[in-house]
Amino acid sequence: MTKAVTWNPEDPSRLFYQTRQRRPLLDRAEGVYLWDRSGKRYLDGSSGAMVSNIGHSNPRVLEAMRRQIERSTFGYRLHFENEPAEHLAAQIAALCPEGHDRVFFVSGGSEATESCIKLARQYAFSSGQQSRWQVITRNPSYHGSTLGALAVTGYRPLTDPFLPMMRQMPSIPAPRCYLDQDSLTDHERGIRYADMLRDKIIELGPESVLAFIMEPVGGASTGALVAPDSYYPRIREICDEFGILLIYDEVMSGAGRTGCYLAAEHWQIKPDIIALAKGLAAGYAPLGAMVADNRIIDTVLNAGGFQHGYTYAGNPLACAAGLAVTQEILERDLMTQATTMGDFLKTELKALMEDYYFIGDVRGKGLLLAFELVANRASMQPLPATFNAHSRLVELAYERGLIIYSRRTRGGIEGDHFLVCPPMIATAAHIEEIITTLRDSLDALQIELAHAGINI
Ligand SMILES: Cc1ncc(COP(=O)(O)O)c(C=O)c1O
Repeated sequence: MTKAVTWNPEDPSRLFYQTRQRRPLLDRAEGVYLWDRSGKRYLDGSSGAMVSNIGHSNPRVLEAMRRQIERSTFGYRLHFENEPAEHLAAQIAALCPEGHDRVFFVSGGSEATESCIKLARQYAFSSGQQSRWQVITRNPSYHGSTLGALAVTGYRPLTDPFLPMMRQMPSIPAPRCYLDQDSLTDHERGIRYADMLRDKIIELGPESVLAFIMEPVGGASTGALVAPDSYYPRIREICDEFGILLIYDEVMSGAGRTGCYLAAEHWQIKPDIIALAKGLAAGYAPLGAMVADNRIIDTVLNAGGFQHGYTYAGNPLACAAGLAVTQEILERDLMTQATTMGDFLKTELKALMEDYYFIGDVRGKGLLLAFELVANRASMQPLPATFNAHSRLVELAYERGLIIYSRRTRGGIEGDHFLVCPPMIATAAHIEEIITTLRDSLDALQIELAHAGINI
C-alpha cells in the first residue's frame, strides 16, 4: 500500500550522493549569493560546480521559464519540434565555428561527451573507416561519470573501481608544464606535449585511432590548466595529419566563462566536435549540447541516422532557460566582464602567493581560475595526501560563508587545487570579498598545517 509522507527538516535524509556528509538546506539564492535555512549567507565562489555563470534567480531567465511552463514543459522530440530548442540551436550555431550548424541537445556534461564519442564512431562507420575506434585522452582529465565518458577520464578514484567493466582508452600526459623542472621555453613545452599525441597515434597505429578528446582549459581534474599557446595549433595539425577527429570538451570552459563563448576561440581552433553543458543553461535547468562539423552530421544522417539519443533531448523548458541565459550573456556583455573580473581575480590570487608560501601555482583563463597548494614551491612537491588539504580548505571557507571547489591534482591521488570561479556577474567588490574570506581561511589552514607538524 502506498503511504503519503510528511517531511520535516529534522528527519534523517533519505538521499545519498558520494559520502555521508550533510549540508544545510538551501533556502534561496540571488545573484552571487545563496542562503541556507538558518539565514546564513554564502558567496558562490565556484558557481556551484562552475555552473551558475549568470548568477542565481535572474529575473529575465525566470520570466522566460514561466512563459514556457504555461505553454508546455515536455514534447517528445520524435513527436514534436519546439520553438525554444530551434531558437537556441540557431543561437549556439551562430556562436560556434563556421560550418558547425547543427546541435544535438542532451541533459548534462556526461551525456554530451558520451554523445561526442559515439558520433565520432558513427562517422567513422559511415565513412568507411570502421577500423577507427580508439579515443586518445589526457591524464589527468575529467569527461564525465557514465561508463563511456569514464573510459576517457583520467582520475583514478573515479575510474579504478570500474576498470573491469569498461575499455579504458589510451592517454597522453596533460600539459602540466608548471610541474616541469626543465629549461625549455613555454613554446617548446607546448610542442613537446602536443607531439606526445603524435607518438601515441603512431604507437597505436593511426588506422585504429578515432579521436582525441581534451578540455581546452582544464576543469576539475587539473584545476583550470591552460597549455602554452603553441600546444593548441600543433594538436590540430597532428589530428589533421592522421585524419583524427578533435573533440573539445567545453562542458566547463564553454558558454562564456573564459571570456569567449568557446575557449577554442582563444587559439582560433576549429574542433570537429564540441561538448557543452554546465553554463549553457547555467543551473536554471539540466541542459547540455553537442555541436559538430556539418560534414560529420551529414555523413551520419545520410548513412541512416545517429543511433543515439535521450528522452529529455531538446526539452522545451530547459531550452527556454538556455536561450534566456545566452541572451543575458550576450546583451549584458558578460563575456567581457568575465575577462575583466577574471584578470582582477587572478591578480589578487597571485598576490596571495606573497603571503602564503604553500600556494604553488595560480592558473586559468577568464573566470575559470584555480590555485594549487604545495609543500614546497621550488620542487612543487604536494602536501601530504593524508592531510586532505583539498577538503580542509573548502570546509574552512564554507564555515566562513565562501564556496570554492576542490579536487586532487595529481590524478586524484594527491595534490590539492581549488577552483575559484564566481558567476560572470561578480563585481570587484565580490572579488574583494572572496579574497578577504580566502585569506582568513588560508590563515586557519596554516595553523592546522602547523599543528599537524607539516613544514611549509
Ligand atoms: C570537462 C567536463 N566534462 C564533463 C563533465 C560531466 O558533466 P556532468 O557532471 O554534467 O555529467 C564535467 C563535469 O564536471 C566536466 O567538467
